[in-house]
Amino acid sequence: MCGIIGAVTVESVSETLLEGLKRLEYRGYDSAGVVLIESEVLKFYKYAHLNKSIEKLSKIAELNSSLATVGLAHTRWATHGVPNDVNAHPHADCTDSIGIVHNGIIENYRQILLHLEKKGHNIKSNTDSEVVAHLIEDNLLVEKQSNQDDPLNFVRAVRKSLNLLKGTYGIAAVSSDFPGQIVVAKNMSPIVVGLGNSGNYISSDVAAILEKADKFLYLKDNQIALITQDNLRLYDIDLNEIDFKTTEVTWSYADAQKLGHESFMLKEMYEQPVAFKNTLADRDINKLELFFDEIHFDPNRLMDIQKVFLVGCGTSFHSAMVAKYAIEHWVRIPVELDIASEFRYRDPILDGSTLVIGISQSGETIDTLAALNFARKSRAKIISVSNVVGSALTNNVDAVMFTRAGPEIGVAATKTYIGQLAVLLGFAISLGKFRGTLFKSEAENYFRELLSCSDKIDMALKRREDYNQLAQKLSGAKDFFFIGRNMGYPTSLEAALKLKEISYLHAEGYAAGELKHGPIAVLDDQSTVVGVATKNKLYDKVLSNLEEVRSRGANVFVVASDSDEEIGKHFENIFYVPDTFELFSPIVDIIPLQFLAYELAKLAGNDVDRPRNLAKTVTVE
Ligand code: M6R
Repeated sequence: MCGIIGAVTVESVSETLLEGLKRLEYRGYDSAGVVLIESEVLKFYKYAHLNKSIEKLSKIAELNSSLATVGLAHTRWATHGVPNDVNAHPHADCTDSIGIVHNGIIENYRQILLHLEKKGHNIKSNTDSEVVAHLIEDNLLVEKQSNQDDPLNFVRAVRKSLNLLKGTYGIAAVSSDFPGQIVVAKNMSPIVVGLGNSGNYISSDVAAILEKADKFLYLKDNQIALITQDNLRLYDIDLNEIDFKTTEVTWSYADAQKLGHESFMLKEMYEQPVAFKNTLADRDINKLELFFDEIHFDPNRLMDIQKVFLVGCGTSFHSAMVAKYAIEHWVRIPVELDIASEFRYRDPILDGSTLVIGISQSGETIDTLAALNFARKSRAKIISVSNVVGSALTNNVDAVMFTRAGPEIGVAATKTYIGQLAVLLGFAISLGKFRGTLFKSEAENYFRELLSCSDKIDMALKRREDYNQLAQKLSGAKDFFFIGRNMGYPTSLEAALKLKEISYLHAEGYAAGELKHGPIAVLDDQSTVVGVATKNKLYDKVLSNLEEVRSRGANVFVVASDSDEEIGKHFENIFYVPDTFELFSPIVDIIPLQFLAYELAKLAGNDVDRPRNLAKTVTVE
């Protein structure tokens, strides 16, 4: 949730760090800070100010003009300790000779703190992170005494400090004794190293260093790296040096820019047809293997699968729900659906004949990572779906399917949702064909139909003005229910999430048939109900459910198919969308509802890219 960037280069790093912080801004932050090494002295600059600290840092003349060639920077999203200047990162040891930035949670920091205080350390902040700097301080002293001028003393001191930590971390550290070094370590929180022409970089997020580096290494859990201006050395937890292969990232710097759009979210909404098309390019339903971008198992094993679990959080959970309906329909295997944070705690029954599919656009959501760790221990086959090449979710799994949506900066997921639907629905068709529950010709027809959805998304996007006019009628509305049945249900959940996230309005997604079992009691003439009523086998039932809510006084809006000539006779406010085959309807039906959320957020004057309280990637439990 916090953002980290660091650089050790031939030139001054201030601008790189400040620019990097700006690129991490989208994650949301309440404080930010920088540490530079200048003539073997650490200089700290830190501010707490909701979404404004980077601006304040950028105005410090001394920081801007510094010639320091090594430094770290951090955007904080407070978990332990209120947002204030002292709690902002980087944190220092007692003598300000070690600086650290941390992303994650050190769960046992209170015990470590007591231990350090007994030893006389002066702990200044209320964070869980500061203890790391003091542990390194102690360990470095020991290393220096036993190994004198060994250049690996710092990396050894960091390594030893990790021994005591329980919890999750992506840590970067600098020391005035080792002014040309940055040491990073990772456990469950992302760290990527970028190698460039003018030096080397580290970050929690590849988008922050895309412009500077051309080769990247995503650290795996329990790895430690020592980065200097012209070298990178990677170690395992026992400090054995290990070989590594860097990855090239196909995203360009421009992909992570607004490029004239008023917000990242809007830009990303308009990128949805391309994200959809790219995600399906080169996949072939007749060759299941081609659905996998990485494969480490014999796909014939998928013939033995008796049960599938789909796990994810937020929007990724909603695409999992769409996939459940599709896999059960086409492949005839029972599919269970789990919110990732619940999965491992409910003791699910898994074995070698179970397939677990973990879905996460970032590939770094800790709950989803933990769910897959749990599945791994039970010998289940594991497939991950992610938008980020090299992300933690794609390590140690049997196969990976990437969505090819490009970097998503807006906190509210849009184009990555569409990418997830594309790859999961395509995979479901291919698996049906592979296991013989679909004939070749059927599978081909479905796939052709799926591919055509990209044009339908495009058509829906072109109706923004019509959708906005309807949205404006809802300006001032406070309570929303989104309801749908079958494939309209995940769309309702996703629409409610989008509205909540960026407009801060109360919204619930409900299965339309379930409303009368309780929630209907809440409805009155102040409530808005948006029904997803595109043509499908439950169309008539959804209309009956909408009549029920209308008779309780609710203001009803409807998402309906273009070909529906009747609906206009019953309802006034209709978001028309291109007709789409039922199982693919979530791909198109969500578009007007994304616009609805966007327009209401704009009318409320909200920052759609940086909604309050939210972080793009949730790396704490
Ligand atoms: O990166 P992930 O897909 O694992 O993220 C999961 C959720 O945190 C995410 O979908 C969140 O709900 C979004 N902000 C939705 O717009």
